[in-house]
Amino acid sequence: RTFQLILGRATLATIITAAGTFYYITQKDRHPGAQLPFDPEKKTIVVLGSGWGATSLLKTLDTTDYNVVVVSPKNYFLFTPLLPSVAVGTLSPRSILQPTRYLTRHKTRQVSVIEAEAKEVDPVKKTVTFSDNSEIKGQVSSTTIGYDYLVYAVGAETQTFGIPGVKEHSCFMKELSDAERMQRQFMDCVETAAFPGQTQEEIDRLLHMVVVGGGPTGIELSGELHDFLEDDLKNWYPELAGKIRITLVEALPSVLPMFSKQLIDYTESTFKKSKIEILTKTMVKEVKEQSVMLQMPDKNIVEVPCGMVIWAAGNVGRQITRDLMAKLPTTQTNRRGITVDDHLRMAGSNDSIFAIGDCTASSYAPTAQVASQQGNYLARQFAQFAKKDAIEARLATLKTAPQTEETKNEAASLMKQLEKLKLRPFHYSHQGSLAYIGSDKAIADLPIFNGNFASGGVATYLFWRSAYLSTLFSLRNRTLVATDWLKCKLFGRDVSRE
Ligand code: FAD
Ligand code: NAI
Repeated sequence: RTFQLILGRATLATIITAAGTFYYITQKDRHPGAQLPFDPEKKTIVVLGSGWGATSLLKTLDTTDYNVVVVSPKNYFLFTPLLPSVAVGTLSPRSILQPTRYLTRHKTRQVSVIEAEAKEVDPVKKTVTFSDNSEIKGQVSSTTIGYDYLVYAVGAETQTFGIPGVKEHSCFMKELSDAERMQRQFMDCVETAAFPGQTQEEIDRLLHMVVVGGGPTGIELSGELHDFLEDDLKNWYPELAGKIRITLVEALPSVLPMFSKQLIDYTESTFKKSKIEILTKTMVKEVKEQSVMLQMPDKNIVEVPCGMVIWAAGNVGRQITRDLMAKLPTTQTNRRGITVDDHLRMAGSNDSIFAIGDCTASSYAPTAQVASQQGNYLARQFAQFAKKDAIEARLATLKTAPQTEETKNEAASLMKQLEKLKLRPFHYSHQGSLAYIGSDKAIADLPIFNGNFASGGVATYLFWRSAYLSTLFSLRNRTLVATDWLKCKLFGRDVSRE
């Protein structure tokens, strides 16, 4: 009995301590201390965007030596790897967002966060013009500010290749609004198919979901849609669930070209078992309101009726990026995006613009991994620049001061420090590729011991979940996502439609 009593008390004490620590951490997070104000003597860094690149930069950046202004049409960071889970209701939208101010409130110096869309960058005058694109506008809704350094991290938009009907009749999967729209549209198709008197042909059309693009986005979405169907719709719409079809269309000979052959085969066989049809060497030529026009491998064009088209055919640069590149026509000639040097400086910008992430054209894939490592790297670069500036300013003062033994020694020591300040080039360290393929399975290509370790299945899925849970930027998001997963396991996904 004494042992039981001690054990009981120890458990209680552990729970209270854990709860207290959790409360302390969250409260400390919510109420950080006072920040240094804007300092006109300091250089100003303007950051365009609040995505992977920008947020990683802001997280690491020491603002003691800089004024920082963030301009983005979204006042939050979106954790894109979990966006497909939002599209089918596994996660609620808010769980994968982090307001940018949550991050900047913890910086040493105040960071100005402006919800606006950058409209123009002038690399000669070193200014950015931006405007408020939200529904509510004040008397002032557009302005121009100057920068000493510009971090250009506006990402990319969905590539449509100018194919007719894509913009009008398909759902993209880039922004949070895309995932919410897809969820609404998918449930609308299901409810419309359940309308009394619907013909069999119309039901088949409405319940045919076409996913375009066999890259990771298309694969993950197809997998998530399949889970929704198996785990929930079969119970709520038993008369319809068996009629829902998912077709994945890919122009290349195989899906997921960036993964190893064995994982491509594993994905294809998993999809086959899940009854997701993969059409490779098939190109979408047009999207209509109720169908897609497919160019089949034999070059014949076939019209396929469908209820919804999800378009995940890759990235293209934004208009503002094209406009900026057009201002530096001799150096910015790559149609894929901004050309940067090894230090991520935009070619032709006189070392004042740094471009990172999906808006650049580099040898790296447009991934969150690359963008976040580039953001981190830039933050470290800015720390080096600040040190260099401080040394040079001191050297300038010493030059005009009376030349004594002491000043000469200090100048010599500073010169040595200056020489040691090496600005290393950006080096990307690939941590592996991961993708969810549905049915509680994931695939992973991991660089281990100078080789590649390929794995797929349920264990990889658990690894996928823990990897993304730990990559989420805050304790708040980790808690929300973990709770959503638990809710989904206990109660299933929500089938109501806004
Ligand atoms: P983004 O993260 O797209 O950020 C761009 C920012 O710029 C946004 O905040 C946007 O609002 C802002 N912006 C846009 N226009 C303007 C403007 N005019 N002025 C100012 N700001 C502007 N990569 C992985 O490595 N692993 C994954 O698992 C993975 N999963 C993904 C799943 C999905 C569904 C998608 C769509 C992508 C996924 N990616 C993944 C790719 C990854 O999201 C991108 O490579 C990454 O977001 C690029 O970061 P970025 O900072 O360049 O751009
Ligand atoms: P993607 O560029 O990787 O794939 C798009 C696919 O669409 C291509 O394979 C292309 O051949 C195909 N396509 C284009 N036009 C077509 C047409 N008309 N008809 C049929 N097929 C067509 O694009 P995705 O998947 O959006 O990924 C973008 C970037 O984000 C990639 O770099 C990817 O690595 C990254 N990403 C990574 C994820 C992960 O690591 N889990 C998840 C999602 C995205």
